[in-house]
Amino acid sequence: MVFCAIFYVKDVAITNLCLLLPRFMVKIVRFYTFLQQRDVHNRDTSIHLKMNLLQERLSKYDLPQRVKALDVYPYFREIDGKQGTEVEMGGHKVLMFGSNAYTGLTGDERVIQAGIEALKKYGSGCAGSRFLNGTLDIHVQLERELAEFVGKDDALCFSTGFSVNAGVIPCLTGKNDYILCDDRDHASIVDGRRLSFSQALKYKHNDMADLEQKLARLPEDVIKLVVVDGVFSMEGDLAKLPEIVALKHKYKNVVIMVDEAHGIGVFGRQGRGVCDHFGLTHEVDLIMGTFSKSLASIGGFIAADDIIINYLRHNARTYIFSASDTPAATASAMEALHIIQREPERIERLWEVTRYALEKFKAAGFEIGETESPIIPLYVRDMEKTFYATKMAFDEGVFINPVIPPACAPQDTLVRVALMATHTEEQVDRAVAKLTKVFRELGVLK
Ligand SMILES: Cc1ncc(COP(=O)(O)O)c(C=O)c1O
Repeated sequence: MVFCAIFYVKDVAITNLCLLLPRFMVKIVRFYTFLQQRDVHNRDTSIHLKMNLLQERLSKYDLPQRVKALDVYPYFREIDGKQGTEVEMGGHKVLMFGSNAYTGLTGDERVIQAGIEALKKYGSGCAGSRFLNGTLDIHVQLERELAEFVGKDDALCFSTGFSVNAGVIPCLTGKNDYILCDDRDHASIVDGRRLSFSQALKYKHNDMADLEQKLARLPEDVIKLVVVDGVFSMEGDLAKLPEIVALKHKYKNVVIMVDEAHGIGVFGRQGRGVCDHFGLTHEVDLIMGTFSKSLASIGGFIAADDIIINYLRHNARTYIFSASDTPAATASAMEALHIIQREPERIERLWEVTRYALEKFKAAGFEIGETESPIIPLYVRDMEKTFYATKMAFDEGVFINPVIPPACAPQDTLVRVALMATHTEEQVDRAVAKLTKVFRELGVLK
């Protein structure tokens, strides 16, 4: 109750009282009811006696219930059809600005057809890992094409991008070596690092002085693996790759791995990614990518020189001990890869609409940070208001995603807007108008 009271006193003080009071009164009543029910539940000692230690511990995790009680729960919202720029959700039509399908290919007939044909030819799954019975000719073909596309000797396809990072990072270095990560790196990089026997170091986001300070203290004759997002997935800014490469030359045995999840299909020649955009492909030792964004499917890959790939092919545990990506997913990703190379106008269009949206959000007064990509963060800097912004935007017909800890620092909560090549300027205008209204109602925009 105390938390509830503080929360509302604070909110009401800084938001537009006239517009929000009725809405908040309903929420207060709902939240109060929830707390009462929970108190009754907790007082029921017979339930507590029945709980084992695990249940007792996990039952204390009630953030989802608290957010649901406020009627602003933003997760697992069901989409009834293909993920285009407008989607149906339970009879409610919304503008989709929460997708990672930058090239807008997830509903493309050619990509769908490629999946259908592979499904018919190879069946629904591979019934095993690449290592043993799960390698198809299309896996090998896609690996060859991806390697050539990103400019490396060879590549390996995994069943998700997450499993690339979780399998490759711990496989590369030993217990005397070091893994250095940007503190905003994706969760899959963090988990890959956690699975490693190497020593872990984190440097402040894009702070090259901090990275250098850390590198300078480390022994010369150990491997120092720097793993970084090419495009930071929540904030939309780029890794400072030229500076990281300069440090690679300054210090001995530095190896660089770049996660191109949000770079491929967006940056570089024909969407080859951020390494290509900076002209630094040959300086980056490992390039990781995923099929779940611009390549309109699911799966991931790692590309590197022959020596590294040969080692990973026979040792990366998420590659060897997990089933290979399905025939349909593989064929759809390959078709998307062909389309982005054949249709450069798609990426030009993505950038046109991105530039347009960036200008519009800036002109409307949103705080959008350092973004240089189709990912536009709209900073809210308050967790509860971030949930409200997401829900109120949804009610107004705009789907966006809330970003709260651990995906960002507590003071940096935001809603994430992401563009697709298929968005129109008119759709951007509509979204900016609706989000301006919501942010004003919440007192985030003046
Ligand atoms: C930067 C980054 N790396 C890796 C991944 C994991 O990729 P996947 O969705 O293919 O598992 C994501 C997905 O959100 C990502 O944003």
